[in-house]
Amino acid sequence: MIMIMTILLCFSTTFISFVSCSGLDPNLGVGVNWGTMTSHQLPPEKVVEMMRANGFKKVKLFEAEKRIMEALIGSEIEVMVGIPNFMLLDLSQDPSYADYWVDANITTYAYPGGVNIKYVAVGNEPFLRAYNATYLQITLPALKNVQNALIRAGFGSKIKATVPLNADIYESPESNPVPSAGDFRLDIKDATIEIVEFLYSNDAPFTVNIYPFLSLYGNPYFPMDFAFFDGSNRPLKDGNYLYTNVFDANYDTLVASLTKAGYPDMKIIVGEIGWPTDGDIHANVKSAKRFNQGVINHVMGSKGTPVRIGPLEIYLFSLLDENKKSIAPGSFETHWGIFEYNGKPKYQLDLTGSKRNKGLAPVLGVRYMSRKWCVLNPRVKELNGLAKEIDYACSLSDCTSLGYGSSCNHLSLAGNASFAFNMYYQLNDQSDWACEFSGLGIVTREDPSVGECRFPVTIAYGTLVVPVHRKVLKVLLGVLEGCIVFLLLVS
Ligand SMILES: *[C@@H]1O[C@H](CO)[C@@H](O)[C@H](O)[C@H]1NC(C)=O
Ligand SMILES: *[C@@H]1O[C@H](CO)[C@@H](O)[C@H](O)[C@H]1NC(C)=O
Ligand SMILES: *[C@@H]1O[C@H](CO)[C@@H](O)[C@H](O)[C@H]1NC(C)=O
Repeated sequence: MIMIMTILLCFSTTFISFVSCSGLDPNLGVGVNWGTMTSHQLPPEKVVEMMRANGFKKVKLFEAEKRIMEALIGSEIEVMVGIPNFMLLDLSQDPSYADYWVDANITTYAYPGGVNIKYVAVGNEPFLRAYNATYLQITLPALKNVQNALIRAGFGSKIKATVPLNADIYESPESNPVPSAGDFRLDIKDATIEIVEFLYSNDAPFTVNIYPFLSLYGNPYFPMDFAFFDGSNRPLKDGNYLYTNVFDANYDTLVASLTKAGYPDMKIIVGEIGWPTDGDIHANVKSAKRFNQGVINHVMGSKGTPVRIGPLEIYLFSLLDENKKSIAPGSFETHWGIFEYNGKPKYQLDLTGSKRNKGLAPVLGVRYMSRKWCVLNPRVKELNGLAKEIDYACSLSDCTSLGYGSSCNHLSLAGNASFAFNMYYQLNDQSDWACEFSGLGIVTREDPSVGECRFPVTIAYGTLVVPVHRKVLKVLLGVLEGCIVFLLLVS
């Protein structure tokens, strides 16, 4: 028995180290973002197991959530821990608050054999235009306080603070749209260069999020092929350099901007890069696989970009779908996952980049609620008020798959209603009250999915308290009833 277990253990460690040691450079390997803006979270331990089974070497988190940090203990996965924007003000004003944050969220976990923390991401895209310069003045002071707190805690050489910035902080002029003409945007140029200076002096990397999908989304005339990595009909010529994909062009625009600021050798990390699978005409499984496999092959090929030759460090966006993400930027926002909400891979990816078409392992042992769906009652003839009920369901749950170009856009009005009803019903853990819709809803045990349009069944890790509570109540009521009957009989 022990021997069998040892053999199994050896086999699995060999498997894991084989996957993770396939590159020469220790930094080589694909990272992934793990966001948790979701109504129903898979158990973090199981997600970590899945990441290890698949050979993900690095993970980027948006917060230091206790359950997730604990699940990462002993995993050896390299971690970038995030600090949300709303904390930047306090962190910028008070060095002792930064000490407190580092103590609670870093020192607690970064012991030998604990969590392998390598970076702290201070804020998330704080210079985004949509924030109206809210964080422009406080990001650098917050970054300084966090880095200095890390140094005071004894992590100065091991853990570096950085700031993930969005790629629209730099650009090339419209009159000369080539990477070498790039520079930081005028309104944030000074603030950005001060950050670069500080990062450089600490030997910390510059982190940038690059989204070719958004180039395509924002510009109907954008050459589609240029968004991907498998060659382009119209390569972009920049002096002696030839660009066949927008990622390289974007990355080298940053290199040009850094070079103009006096930092030609600044280390760069791509904090987010990915492709969504639904919610837009260009968002589908085929394109997502094509793009993400392209990114992985590009990274593992170790060639770099035309200007920056050498390995790239990237974090794919994202691990799992997040149904609670704001869809203000677009309906695709809830569909960035390589894996679905339930931990199943949406498509196959070969993380080694060796084109062996090796699959992805799912999260194992996921529990679901019953195979039940809420749909529009086909017997109801009076459909007045249906639009109002659909609006209500969709205002609280994720109906982005119904939109133009999305997976469920072809449904009839009744199909639309059923989809909306079901999303609301599953969000609310299949509670009876969540399938009322003024008498228009009905629960069915027949899967209403049609083709690519999937009607999900929720996983059983949501508001677990409620059903458990109800069951206990039922049992107690049952006992009480029994007692009363007994007393009545006796008397
Ligand atoms: C750890 O960080 C999280 C957010 O990233 C924050 O909510 C929490 O308060 C921090 N813990 C402490 C003790 O500061
Ligand atoms: C930014 O400014 C615009 C227009 O002035 C406003 O509509 C928006 O709410 C502001 N956003 C934030 C985050 O302050
Ligand atoms: C279904 O809903 C979508 C999104 O709201 C809408 O574009 C489409 O026209 C609807 N279909 C029908 C038949 O009402």
